[in-house]
Amino acid sequence: MKVLVTGGAGFIGSALVRYLIAQTSATVINVDKLTYAGDLRTVASVSANPRYRFERCDIRDRDAMVRIFQRNRPDLVMNLAAETHVDRSIDGPAEFIQTNVVGVYVLLECALEYWRSLAGGEATAFRFHHVSTDEVFGDLGRAGAFTEDSPYRPNSPYAASKASADHLVRAWHRTYGLPTVVSNCSNNYGPFQFPEKLIPLTIVNCLRERELPVYGHGENIRDWLYVEDHARALYQVATEARPGASYNVGGGSERSNLQVVQTICAHLDKLRPRPERSYAELITFVPDRPGHDFRYAIDATRIAHELSFTPSIDFEAGLFRTVQWYIDNESWWRPLLENRYDGQRLGLAGVKNSAP
Ligand code: NAD
Ligand code: TYD
Repeated sequence: MKVLVTGGAGFIGSALVRYLIAQTSATVINVDKLTYAGDLRTVASVSANPRYRFERCDIRDRDAMVRIFQRNRPDLVMNLAAETHVDRSIDGPAEFIQTNVVGVYVLLECALEYWRSLAGGEATAFRFHHVSTDEVFGDLGRAGAFTEDSPYRPNSPYAASKASADHLVRAWHRTYGLPTVVSNCSNNYGPFQFPEKLIPLTIVNCLRERELPVYGHGENIRDWLYVEDHARALYQVATEARPGASYNVGGGSERSNLQVVQTICAHLDKLRPRPERSYAELITFVPDRPGHDFRYAIDATRIAHELSFTPSIDFEAGLFRTVQWYIDNESWWRPLLENRYDGQRLGLAGVKNSAP
């Protein structure tokens, strides 16, 4: 099987590429534009494998993408290329519309043209898997969980761009018959996550003795899934789901942001103690994110029953492993902070009277 993965130099895409090479016999074509969030060091461990190839390309570049489809003739497309950071989407939504909406449109057009050129058996087996987020469903109060039938109510520019893409995918299936599947996942964490997101930013700020910014009162709740569990779920959805299906994927691990940050501090107090002080002293409450979604939670009944998928790594063990990984891999994240993003507060642009 040949799998065209877009965004395979990013956090989840690279975990998927590593999974496909290590755990399956698939050939992987990794298509990535290499934005600030893309880094080929995330796939260095598999890049010499004869079943792996890389194409640097923007998914919006239709001519180039058509050539990539023709040259590689994939059996499966898994789309993970995206702009992904909510705070950046508040400061500058344009790139999010371009990649997450226009890019997905271009990709759907290329996939449709290619799929129509396939012979019977190949056409039946072909799948276009679009990877999405639970943030398309908006937010929850203290109770309840998102199902696949929850209404779309995106609140951030990021979530709205992903919701738009999900709708395009649905339409290309219903209208043109393209065999698509969609998955909507909760927050991921693990190795190689760009240090702008809560968990890696907290870890690297501890290791640099910087303040740990917690938005608002730290009461907002996310459901966390270890990235390697997500990669396995993605492979199952892509290869087992029927066309037109969608699956929610979650970790069953709801934590408030303050709990997450405190747990990281507790792990680091053991692994890399500061003389006589806890890392928790670095916690700093900062102005809240505009439009901040309160709580996300996933009802994962469908993927558990239909595909027998359940997460294998619980949050505390996964977080401990992640903290250890960032301690051991300073040579990966240090240059990113020096050259791409130094940890400054994002997401307050355009908000009246906001003080970072
Ligand atoms: P990431 O930001 O780490 O990586 C995104 C990758 O896409 C980068 O390698 C980047 O270079 C590439 N890319 C961006 N624009 C591109 C373009 N126009 N053409 C080609 N490549 C481009 O993202 P991630 O966290 O790995 O997320 C991957 C996917 O999973 C996204 O679609 C995201 O919406 C979804 N998702 C993420 C999470 C999460 O917690 N991170 C949760 C649920 C769903
Ligand atoms: P983030 O990692 O940006 O993921 P998402 O917004 O997609 O859920 O943020 C996770 C949560 O942590 C979210 O509620 C915002 C909060 N947060 C902080 O409190 N401080 C930070 O420095 C960051 C980046 C996020």
